[in-house]
Amino acid sequence: MTTDATPAHATEEQIAAAWGDPKLANVLYHDWEAATYDEKWSISYDERCIDYARGRFEHVAGRDGWPYTTALELGCGTGFFLLNLKQAGVLDEGHVTDLSPGMVEVAVRNARGLGFEVEGRVADAESIPYDDETFDLVVGHAVLHHIPDLDLAMREVLRVLKPGGRFVFAGEPTRNGDWVARRLSRLTWWAATRVTALAPLRESWARPKAELEESSRAAALESVVDIHTFDPDRLAAQCLRAGAVDVRTVTEELTASWFGWPVRTFEAAVRPGALGWGWAMFAYKGWLRLSWLDENVLSKVVPDELFYNVCVTGTRPVNAAPRES
Ligand SMILES: C[S@@+](CC[C@H](N)C(=O)[O-])C[C@H]1O[C@@H](n2cnc3c(N)ncnc32)[C@H](O)[C@@H]1O
Repeated sequence: MTTDATPAHATEEQIAAAWGDPKLANVLYHDWEAATYDEKWSISYDERCIDYARGRFEHVAGRDGWPYTTALELGCGTGFFLLNLKQAGVLDEGHVTDLSPGMVEVAVRNARGLGFEVEGRVADAESIPYDDETFDLVVGHAVLHHIPDLDLAMREVLRVLKPGGRFVFAGEPTRNGDWVARRLSRLTWWAATRVTALAPLRESWARPKAELEESSRAAALESVVDIHTFDPDRLAAQCLRAGAVDVRTVTEELTASWFGWPVRTFEAAVRPGALGWGWAMFAYKGWLRLSWLDENVLSKVVPDELFYNVCVTGTRPVNAAPRES
């Protein structure tokens, strides 16, 4: 694995520099988050998240080609998507990359903890450090919206794919879904931090002031790292422009995101450990039920661009070279 030494916590000077540099902001923010990321986002490597990853993949790309022999993940974070797809039988040999050295380190360690090896490299999706035609599959989850030059990144994806190889990107925010989610989250944060600061609740529910301040600093960087939101048709057009074929998008989570964002924000706003197992079950089962409603009922009647997540897949043409990067 290749890494640069980076600080666990960004200094005020680094944050100031990152305001005008989304890539530096990404490294600082995600290095900072790496150690606690799985806990923050309830990421696990058991049946719950294996089912989730498999479900996202299958919904947009089906089951043809499983297992893909060699697979690359861009913006792997702690390895949530690729490691769970591997456990689901979607792929064999895994390679994880991320702009954040801290994230790559955690992803490689997580794989080892699960009893297998993946190769990890620190890499920018706009210049993927692998030869042409290396992979059968390129995946990513919640990464495209962070990449400044997405046209360039998509050309890079097609370059490193073998002819006929597939890409699958899931968990990207739609323009409308993101608009609603951010407002729900802000309102929840505002209400939760005020209510838990009231005297009878303060001791057991309020997060310590220093932690809230750290969250606010992280939130400031978040506004720099989140660059794009997507319209499904435009995202598909962008992939076609880069030279992909058989491009398809699906959207997911309408009521599930209206429930999930306030729940996650509330969890972040209160003292860790205050909510307990009962709350965790309520949050997970509530999200599952609403996801079922979204997928089986609402997706048939509500326009796809109103849902929160968009997933996109496509392939590199068998007989054509990809466009120049
Ligand atoms: C929202 S996190 C998602 C992490 C993981 N895929 C998941 O779903 O849990 C986005 C990740 O993309 C990485 N990232 C941001 N910009 C990138 C770029 N230009 N190239 C590669 N990775 C990037 C970040 O460092 C971060 O780890």
